[in-house]
Amino acid sequence: MNEVRIGIIGMGNIGNFHANHFFKGLIKRARLTAVADVRPAALERYRNDYKTFDSSGALIRSGEVDAVIIGTPHYDHTAIGIDALEQGLHVMVEKPISVHKADCERLIAAHRGREAQVFTADFQMRTSPTYQRIKRLIDGGELGEIRRVNWIITCWFRSNAYYASSEWRATWGGEGGGVLLNQCPHNLDLMQFFFGLPSRVRGFCNWGKYHPIEVEDEVTAYLEYPNGATGVFITTTGEAPGSDRLEIAGDQGKLILENGARTFTRNEIPSGKFCRETRDLFGVPPVWNVQIPVPTGGISHPAMIQNFVNAILDGEPLIVRAEEGIRSIELANAILYSAWTGATVDLPLDGAAYEAALKQKIAGSTFSKTVAQATAGDMEKSFH
Ligand SMILES: NC(=O)c1ccc[n+]([C@@H]2O[C@H](COP(=O)([O-])OP(=O)(O)OC[C@H]3O[C@@H](n4cnc5c(N)ncnc54)[C@H](O)[C@@H]3O)[C@@H](O)[C@H]2O)c1
Repeated sequence: MNEVRIGIIGMGNIGNFHANHFFKGLIKRARLTAVADVRPAALERYRNDYKTFDSSGALIRSGEVDAVIIGTPHYDHTAIGIDALEQGLHVMVEKPISVHKADCERLIAAHRGREAQVFTADFQMRTSPTYQRIKRLIDGGELGEIRRVNWIITCWFRSNAYYASSEWRATWGGEGGGVLLNQCPHNLDLMQFFFGLPSRVRGFCNWGKYHPIEVEDEVTAYLEYPNGATGVFITTTGEAPGSDRLEIAGDQGKLILENGARTFTRNEIPSGKFCRETRDLFGVPPVWNVQIPVPTGGISHPAMIQNFVNAILDGEPLIVRAEEGIRSIELANAILYSAWTGATVDLPLDGAAYEAALKQKIAGSTFSKTVAQATAGDMEKSFH
């Protein structure tokens, strides 16, 4: 095979966005051959030039594709991903790979024994040269032992119109969460990519604080790591202007990434060593301000798809193995579970217990999006 035939399942925002990468010729050695969506209207503009299907199963079994990109709402990623893998196709699944840990395990299990099939997930922020450099600095020990991490990522502003744009959005039954399941899988994925998973989580969430939704649109989470390091993760879709400030404090110094600007203040003497050895009551380790050169280039979806194609054709190492996608979901689930129970949650998370609790939330939900949207105006008053 010297060209990959690709099908996209779910032709909404992201499905159309990915199709455009092919239209613009950004993806080499691959061709978009088929699309699928349960909404006939979503297929209209593709009917003349591509094979169109009104179900994922029909596309997967059509013989028209070697690989699929799954861009449906989150809950469907699991069943469609399992079906495509079992039918021998290569799979790129959108983030989050599934809604909860147990579903992630089911999806990942379908790839076991099928390693010849490429299985990746679209965490495109991993293509950022800055994040790749931070990962190398951490793994290279440049920061020494990590002691504290803090990410204030409140620049995910979303309007009420956004939440009204699709029925599945921001409901327990349709999305399984809010900002933690939709916007923040990228940041939670990078948190685990940089620091691994914490051992304990204490989450505080506000449900529909700024929007007429039933799920979380504001989160503050405290994280504790196996080495004793601590972390705070703060996010919301209701703040403008927002902040994007990642702070990593290590024994060797501190790295701050704020709105793309990087500062690295390096200790001449590791702070732990200095602390133990100095005779100076009020002294601090001398520091150097270090410039961190980062190659140009930004975050790129086409680079993720090209890596998927190159992995299929040449065995190129994947930027993201889809199996890693369980980690950002476990973190999101643990924060939500902690907020629901009002207790600190130990990791690894009990996936079955979480799934049961989520199902209970869905069953117990009396939330009506239409009513909430209709009365959205009254929300404002509640802040004053
Ligand atoms: N990587 C990213 O940065 C990024 C950006 C946007 C969305 N996403 C992810 O993509 C997914 C879709 O989000 P969106 O904003 O495109 O949603 P959307 O509502 O705009 O589009 C989803 C489409 O899937 C279709 N669909 C629903 N169920 C289906 C099924 N069973 N089979 C076939 N088609 C089906 C819907 O009709 C709709 O056209 C979500 O999981 C989201 O998290 C990722």
